[in-house]
Amino acid sequence: MTKQGLPDGVNLIKAPKHNSQQSLKDAIADGFQKDPKSIPALFFYDTPGSQLFEQICKLPEYYPTRTEHKILTDNARDIIETVTGEVELVELGSGSSAKTRVLINAILADQSHLHYIPTDISTDFLLESSIALKNEYELLSITAIAAEHSDALRLLPEDDSQARLFLFLGSNIGNFEPEAAIDFIGRIRCQMREDDHLLIGFDLMKDHQVLFDAYNDKAGVTAEFNKNLLVRINRELGGNFDPDLFDHYAPFVEEHSRIEMRLISRCDQRAYLERIGQGFDFEQGEYIHTENSYKYTLEGFSSLCEAAGLKMQIHYLDERGWFAVGLLRKAGGG
Ligand code: AVI
Repeated sequence: MTKQGLPDGVNLIKAPKHNSQQSLKDAIADGFQKDPKSIPALFFYDTPGSQLFEQICKLPEYYPTRTEHKILTDNARDIIETVTGEVELVELGSGSSAKTRVLINAILADQSHLHYIPTDISTDFLLESSIALKNEYELLSITAIAAEHSDALRLLPEDDSQARLFLFLGSNIGNFEPEAAIDFIGRIRCQMREDDHLLIGFDLMKDHQVLFDAYNDKAGVTAEFNKNLLVRINRELGGNFDPDLFDHYAPFVEEHSRIEMRLISRCDQRAYLERIGQGFDFEQGEYIHTENSYKYTLEGFSSLCEAAGLKMQIHYLDERGWFAVGLLRKAGGG
């Protein structure tokens, strides 16, 4: 056991309090003044929200997780051979690290030890999955970083003895506005050395009904995930939202090539948030915008990466062409 009560081989780095992340209180005070009212998607991921997201990943309609998993399974060998040499693995937004196991297995077929650096905003979730991984893989040492993506990049341990393979999977990049996506990929680039690679998963444009169904599942798990934001606001900001007075709806908005997650007010109502000291009015039919999930073409996403200074060395697709995983290097790299 380490000093932090973690098993040997698992260390935890936590972002300091003065990190760049906006507090929920500031985000709501700011977002509820906009038209439409909005809540940043990063607030989905408290512990119940992260658990609900894990359930979403298993839904029959939610193809991204399963499709990306299959792409990684089919191509792990090729990916690791393309990267060449011994690597350490840095995963931004690791969640339960389910898909990462495929890559860990491929790497450990070639090297005797692997330093894995998962980062996630939910500390509980990060620790739980890091401990589970360490129990499964003797040959792994883990430095878990509990932080929002940009903070995590600043907290990476300094070690230039091995090349790094950065992972940003699950189409998480799709939740960034395109300009912010360029900015974020550029930040990853700043941490990359010549021999490093970034493996990134992104969702592709496809039949609108398939997209709609993936975000409006029959079992209502995505609805619960969306409404969990209101439950979180009630708990953390002393709010009196009744989540049943909002409907979940996630249309595909063609103009922006994105799914928009919305919470639509079922009636005229007011919610009071004690910790902000203010009531907020919602008209019947008005919605709170809670997330964008962008869908790209291969060409569109490659140009976005080039704008961030990275070149798509190779990409992998599933047989339906629904999802893509790209392996990127610094532009100008070999
Ligand atoms: C985390 N992210 C990639 C998911 C997505 O598909 O945009 C979040 C999500 N929202 C609703 N369902 C899944």
